[in-house]
This record gives sequence, structure tokens and C-alpha cells, in this order.
Amino acid sequence: MRVDVHLGPADVAAALRADVTAGLAARPRWLPPKWFYDARGGQLFDDITRLPEYYPTRSETEILTDRSAEVAAVTGATHLVELGSGTSTKTRLLLDALPVRRFTPFDVDEAMLREAGPAIEAAYPGLDVQAVVGDFQHHLTALPGTGGRLVAFLGSTIGNLAAPDRAKLLADLASTLQRGEWLLLGTDLVKDEATLVAAYDDAQGVTAEFNRNVLRVLNRQLDADFDVEAFHHRAVWVPEEEWIEMRLAPDGEQRVHIAALDLEVIFADGEELRTEISAKFRRAGVEAELAAVDFELVRWWTDAAGRFALSLSRRS
Ligand code: AVJ
Repeated sequence: MRVDVHLGPADVAAALRADVTAGLAARPRWLPPKWFYDARGGQLFDDITRLPEYYPTRSETEILTDRSAEVAAVTGATHLVELGSGTSTKTRLLLDALPVRRFTPFDVDEAMLREAGPAIEAAYPGLDVQAVVGDFQHHLTALPGTGGRLVAFLGSTIGNLAAPDRAKLLADLASTLQRGEWLLLGTDLVKDEATLVAAYDDAQGVTAEFNRNVLRVLNRQLDADFDVEAFHHRAVWVPEEEWIEMRLAPDGEQRVHIAALDLEVIFADGEELRTEISAKFRRAGVEAELAAVDFELVRWWTDAAGRFALSLSRRS
């Protein structure tokens, strides 16, 4: 396995400090969702994917199970690139179907890549794994390979970005890929509010723990003293934006000291901290965002219930 490192621990630490400094100075206050994912946050997200209310993972897996052979037939891709690779269950559906000789998992988590890469190589003899440690908002222009690539960006992770950031990410991808290369994009779809809110506010409270975990990350990484249990989980559908917002609402005024930033932060009672947006999509919107950067939509598949979409597009 080869590993290209575009992002070391010092870069990650500097990015966290910059994000927290900017986000807590803003009104309303916010933190980017990427900081949920320490080891415990990754485990909690894994637990979320198995919750009865959290349909996206099951819906997307259903589509991939039904359509991977068609992805292979249409693209003939020989090099699979997966952005934000995470758990490999969905990846394997693609690796099983595609005539791939190379696999590039792309993730911020170097330790995870160094563990997962050899396991994939062992399971797929002859497959050459070329991992990339990077942030998909900064390092997409440095993907390995020179043709025959299929970039998979699954799970509706693109929904964590607002429209201008999505446009930048898709433009970076378009500039990296050659004409005729492919993008397989998972997007959760707009649907009734009750289903959406339940998916982000489950009865067992796993999503609430996942949300509060970002405060634990700050406590540990930045020597902060958030009273984690004093913040309540909220999931709100914002119809004007067509996204779910996750927020943390302080129960009573909260004074927080963030030692590593030499920062004192006061949350007024009920002053919410936004921790994630999860945008939901419609076909016309996805098609337009792709077309704006020269990706031509070639296939659009949904699960039987019509909850989630997988689109296949070609760099034109
Ligand atoms: C991993 C970003 C796709 O937005 O649905 C799950 C993260 N947050 N429950 C999503 C998440 C709360 C998830 N993504």
C-alpha cells in the first residue's frame, strides 16, 4: 500500500484551532461537523447507521446492491477513488463489481487508512491500494491516477456543505478528472419533515451523544471545560434551505474556558451552537450543480422507497 500524506497531525491541530476560533466568534455560533469524528465519534456514527430511524445508509446500500453491476457496465472503471472512505461495507459492493486494479481511499484519518488499506489488499489480491490522507475541501486536486477513474462520494456527505462549498468541491473534482472519467454521488432526498427529523433525533439518543461528542473533542484537544451534559441535542428542519441543522442548546448560561486558545466563551441560556448542516436534495438541483462544473448526469437511481439517490455522471 502507498500512502500520500497531504495533511499531518500539526495541520489537523491548526485547522481545529482556526475553526473553533472563527466559529465561536460568529453569531450564531457554529462548529464544522468534521470535528465529530474522533474514535468515539466514528463509533457513534457507525451506531447511527444501524438505527431504525436513520434510513440513508440502508437506502444507499439497497441502491448499490442493485446497481453496482450497472455502474461497472457503464463506466468500466479500473481505478476506484472513495472520498471519506470510512467503513468499507459499501466500498466492497463496488470493488466486487468493478474491474478495478487500483483503489484510492481518501480520508483525513491516517490511522484508519493504514489499518483499512492492508485489509482491503488482503481481501482483493492484485488490487493496488494507493491511499491519500487529505481534506476533501483542500486536497482533491492531488488525486493519484490518470484515467479510468470512478470517484465515489457516498453517504450524502456532500450534504454537510452549503451550496458554495459544494460548488467548490465539485469544481476541484472536475478539474482533477479527465474527460470521460466518472463521479458516483450519494445524495439524501427532500422528504416529509417527520421522517427527516426522526433520522437526526433518534429515540435511543445515539445522535444526541454523537452531537455532544464534538464538545468532548474540544475539551480534550483544546483543553476546554464544556459541561457536556448541560447541552441539549436539537435537530431542526430548515425549509428555506432544505437542510437539517443539528444544534446544541445550553441549559442555563454556560461559561466555557478554552485554555489552548486562551478564550473565554459565554453562552446565554438557550443560545444555540450549530454543529452540522445536512442538506437534502432534489434531482433537478443535483443535475444543475453537476452540470455547472461539466459533469453530465448519466444515471439517476433511487431506492424503492424513493428516499435516497445515487447519481452517476461523466466529466464532459
Ligand atoms: C455522514 C454527513 C452523511 O448528515 O446524515 C448522521 C452525519 N449526522 N446523523 C448525515 C450524521 C447526524 C451524516 N453524514
